[in-house]
Amino acid sequence: MSEPRQILVTSALPYANGSIHLGHMLEYIQTDMWVRFQKLRGNQCIYVCADDAHGSAIMLRAEKEGITPEQLIANVQAEHSSDFADFLVDFDNFHSTHSEENRELSGLIYSRLREAGHIATRSVTQYFDPEKGMFLADRFIKGTCPKCAAEDQYGDNCEKCGATYAPTELKNPKSAISGATPVLRDSQHFFFKLPDFQAMLQQWTRSGTLQDAVANKLAEWLDSGLQEWDISRDAPYFGFEIPGEPGKYFYVWLDAPIGYMASFKNLCARRPELDFDAFWNEGSKAELYHFIGKDIVNFHALFWPAMLEGAGFRKPTAVNVHGYLTVNGAKMSKSRGTFIKARTYLDHLQPEYLRYYYAAKLGRGVDDLDLNLEDFVQKVNSDLVGKVVNIASRCAGFIHKGNEGVMVAGDAAPDLTEAFLAAAPSIADAYEGRDFGRAMREIMALADRANAWIADKAPWSLAKQEGKQEEVQAICAQGVNLFRQLVIFLKPVLPVLAADAEAFLNVAPLTWNDHLSRLENHTLNPFKALMSRIEPAKVEAMVAASKEDLLATEAKAPAGNGELAKDPLSAEIEFDTFAAVDLRVALIVKAEAVPGADKLLQLTLDIGDEHRNVFSGIKSAYPDPSKLEGRLTMMVANLKPRKMRFGVSEGMVMAAGPGGEEIYLLSPDSGAKPGQRIK
Ligand code: MSP
Ligand code: ZN
Repeated sequence: MSEPRQILVTSALPYANGSIHLGHMLEYIQTDMWVRFQKLRGNQCIYVCADDAHGSAIMLRAEKEGITPEQLIANVQAEHSSDFADFLVDFDNFHSTHSEENRELSGLIYSRLREAGHIATRSVTQYFDPEKGMFLADRFIKGTCPKCAAEDQYGDNCEKCGATYAPTELKNPKSAISGATPVLRDSQHFFFKLPDFQAMLQQWTRSGTLQDAVANKLAEWLDSGLQEWDISRDAPYFGFEIPGEPGKYFYVWLDAPIGYMASFKNLCARRPELDFDAFWNEGSKAELYHFIGKDIVNFHALFWPAMLEGAGFRKPTAVNVHGYLTVNGAKMSKSRGTFIKARTYLDHLQPEYLRYYYAAKLGRGVDDLDLNLEDFVQKVNSDLVGKVVNIASRCAGFIHKGNEGVMVAGDAAPDLTEAFLAAAPSIADAYEGRDFGRAMREIMALADRANAWIADKAPWSLAKQEGKQEEVQAICAQGVNLFRQLVIFLKPVLPVLAADAEAFLNVAPLTWNDHLSRLENHTLNPFKALMSRIEPAKVEAMVAASKEDLLATEAKAPAGNGELAKDPLSAEIEFDTFAAVDLRVALIVKAEAVPGADKLLQLTLDIGDEHRNVFSGIKSAYPDPSKLEGRLTMMVANLKPRKMRFGVSEGMVMAAGPGGEEIYLLSPDSGAKPGQRIK
């Protein structure tokens, strides 16, 4: 046996300012399947990731929601972690780029690059928002296109005519943040001298580290000459201040890939058998793989290896690039309900359906992958339920009824046994080379053969005949053995199905090499349904819910809990409908204006056992919101949480009056306690 390999694997770090959707999941599921395959083979394989927590987008979004960036990224990290866990993505560590380890490593890499002469400084002239007091990235400037005069175009390109230009060429430029007219201002910037690494990159990108299509694309840039890379941003910025340079911050993309190292370092502190240096120092024997989407290739295959080389660390063994997800043949679309968040999917469907579908369609290339929802239902039902699970469910009953659950010894189909053993190395190669589609095709071809053999033997007919019991048992034991091998081959893709099958088979967790052996004179546990068919109605419900998500997110004017309810058309309601409303006494713990919203107050309400965040359109009546603090009011506590531009509103307070200054918040008599129900 060869030495077990030491492998470190990463997926790109998701931005901490948005939810995970099924496009992201293509990457995390793909990586997870590859990692699980390595672990199943007995290799030491470590899978780390983190949230990408820095940058002005995150700073501005936190500001809009009226929370600190630290609060925002903590909330998002919790959401991301549970999305990944529920999709069975099994990180060894999910960290954050806003961490001590990352601050130290970013400082270290920067100082090594500077000492080696790879950092330049020079002055850059850029638009500055005088009201907001910050420099504006191109996407925060809007104006009239200099070519076609279309209004309201972004700072670097026109959506109408497709022209690209410098932001300074825009007519009538405005800050997209404050609306102010930006002014030009100079500032000192720091640059990473990427051209120093031209020769290394020419060689490295052609040394088997990249898919051909990716290397060819990069060759275009490499041949036309590399540019120095601007790695600094001026305050205010959410990120790491550059050591010794007050008011200057590392650009988010400088410390983001270092976040891979930082997450691993954080894990090393918990896992003493892991040695950080053994994985990262120049000359390391460990393998390092990054899985990424095709949109971020230059960061991973140019800047990142150059930074590592310049700072004396090892470079990646390979960067594995995948294409983009489309749904029903088109870009994910909010209006069509095909922009599907991870959580919306999980609310309706099991994670393994999608894992299998992605596996079946993933190849080694960078082509886009289409999630066709009809094909998805059809393929999962036919392959997993119709072929794989079917084998076990056809055979198990006879073994329990006819032989007290004991699988008899003996090989009833030597040619099938042979075929399954012979296919294993090829399936393993396909996994290793990330050709999951080929692996699934080969596995399903084996399942087809097993089913055809069982159908031909028809144990269900034999069972009715006199004196055929022995033959029935031999067929069914063989069927379960073949099923067990299929489960091993599918385990990287379907870990829950595998665990349930292990429980039925009454065996310890299966490893890859277990496919070499078979179960004989072995007692099974009772068979329970391992996987149910996808009901198309569930898929429809998921698409419908994705459209609803959109309504909630895009509601610009906060209606309902944002504004006082219009006089309802007093239709009668049933008592049950009324009784379903959870009305509670609430203590206003905190009341604040919401920056950027003229009508809203943000209230923190104590309802006894928890605190609620509620946005309410009552500001016109309470110009000094702090006066509300400490006062009791009444709230609807079971209103569906509503995502607004500024955050999630978790209920509604009750007020009367026509509006404007005449809004009267309701209050209970003194003596009422927060959390008491109104009956
Ligand atoms: N934060 C950066 C990555 C920093 S890595 C040091 C980023 N984040 S992201 O949230 O926008 O994307 C995370 C990963 O998901 C990227 O690899 C990206 O290519 C991938 N995908 C995002 N949308 C996708 C699809 N629609 N389809 C497939 N992959 C997609 O980029
Ligand atoms: Zn234009």
